Formats: sequence, C-alpha cells, structure tokens
Amino acid sequence: MTRITKAVFPVAGLGTRFLPATKAMPKELLPIIDKPIIQFAVEEAIGAGITELVFVTGRNKRAVGDHFDANLELESQLLAKGKKELRDLVRNIVPEGVSCIFVRQPEPLGLGHAVLCAAPAVGNNPFAVLLADDFMQGETLPTAALVAAFDQKPQNLLSVSEVSAEEVSKYGILRPGERGADGLISVKGLVEKPAREDAPSRLASFGRYVFTPEVFAVLRTLKPGAGGEIQLADAIDQLAEAGKVAAISNPSQRYDCGSKFGYLTAIVDHALAHPDYRTRFLDLLRDRLTGPGCSQ
Ligand code: G1P
Repeated sequence: MTRITKAVFPVAGLGTRFLPATKAMPKELLPIIDKPIIQFAVEEAIGAGITELVFVTGRNKRAVGDHFDANLELESQLLAKGKKELRDLVRNIVPEGVSCIFVRQPEPLGLGHAVLCAAPAVGNNPFAVLLADDFMQGETLPTAALVAAFDQKPQNLLSVSEVSAEEVSKYGILRPGERGADGLISVKGLVEKPAREDAPSRLASFGRYVFTPEVFAVLRTLKPGAGGEIQLADAIDQLAEAGKVAAISNPSQRYDCGSKFGYLTAIVDHALAHPDYRTRFLDLLRDRLTGPGCSQ
C-alpha cells in the first residue's frame, strides 16, 4: 500500500452554533487569536507528510479557498511597506510542494457524504480526514500518529480518547476489542452518538481518521442514518465488523472548537502558551481573579 499523501477536510458545515459570526464567514476561519482553526488542521496534515489537501466545501465557503490561495496584491503591498516577515507568513500558508483541490458538496447530506464527495480527487489511494472543529495541540499530533501507524500496518485507523459518561452522546463511540502489543486497539464497531445507557464504551472517535479507499465503496451503499444523514461512523462500523479498523489513543490535547466553550478554552490555553502573550495574559487573569466583582 502506498504512503498517505492526501488529506480531506470537510468544510461544508453551516456553523449555526456560532451565529451571527458565521452568517457571512465560514466557521473554519474563526481564529485562535490570529490563525484560523482550519489552518491549524492543514498544518497538522502537512506536518504528517501530506502534500495534497482536498477541501470539501459548500455554499458560503469561498473564503476558505481564498485563504489558501495566493494573494499577490496583498503580498506586494506588504513588501512595499517593508513588511517582508508578514509577506512570508501570508505566502507560506501553503508551502511549496503542497497543492489544494476544492470540491463542492452540493447538499448537506452528512459527514459520510462529504467524504464521498472527495472520492474523485482522492482516487484509489489511502487518505486522512481532518475535522477542523477538533483543534489539537501538542508535541505529537494525531494525524502524524495515524500516518505512522498506517506505515507500519496499512488499515483504516481512528484517533480516540476517553470521554465522561455525560459526553458519550456527542461522539462516535467505539465497541473496542483487544489492545495489541503495538498499542493499537482493534475496533469491533462504532456507534454514532449513543445514549449514555447504550454506549458500548467511553472511547470516543475524534475528528482524525485514516482510510483505505475501500471506505468509498461502503459509503456509496449507505442509507441515511442518525439525523437523516449519511454518517461516516456507519461506514466505519461496517468496516469494523469486517475486522478492518483499529484505533490509537490521541496523543495530544483536544479542544472542541465546534462549541463556544471549547473554542474559548482553546483561545485561553493558546494565549497562555504563546511566547508573546503569556506573561501579560497571566497578569490580566490574576488581576481579573482578584479584582472587584470576582468573589463568586
Ligand atoms: C463528528 C462525527 C463523530 C465524531 C465527531 C468528533 O460528529 O460524526 O463520530 O465523534 O465528529 O468531533 P459532529 O461533531 O460533526 O456532529
């Protein structure tokens, strides 16, 4: 099996939880201070050796394309103003040797359908999928871990972490098998957003995956599942029942940037880790925590 060089970014979602901010702006461009969350996911993929980025877009998502396209006018204005560092920052959003493909999901028929829309661009190749809402921070990021595991043994792979019993209904939850000596957990099934009492475990699949092209054949046969949508989790469940899926523990810190509180937490932690802001931001927090009105 070939190495993974392609990654799919489903970015067609409406982002209703962030209205009105997302009325005209794609939710994937919401920034963590100065970098859009989709750019973090793209950098994670590139860091894992991926060179072809396939964005599955929808209505109102033109700005995602613009963000990853060259902007020669802006670049020359920055240069003319002596701001070469900023020019380089803008120019290198997509480094040399990395290419972008944009495909359109004509109707919002679910995550599984979005991934299937990428099939003509991916072809008969293994590929990664990254959901930008799941913002990952850490020394080793999940896509690099998935790609490395795929190199060892080519198969469908999920990145998983344990969640609390209250949270199982928000995620695809694993029916886990044995954990092997290589650290991989065999996956017997995946249940999309089960009720707490029906959850087969507390291991949740997060928005990082690696698939063999076989997933497309399964997606093509699926009927709408939970929420009337073609669910990626249902395709994974079928592959798992055939013994073709394994999972690895997410090696990084994950923030759910699909929720306002998760997004706020990501910004706070990012500021606390940022060399330029850390000290001032800590002073600000201390001031706010001890200041008037903070007794609760
Ligand atoms: C999607 C997947 C779900 C997964 C989750 C991770 O759900 O369908 O299996 O656990 O992403 O964030 P969404 O959050 O898009 O509803």
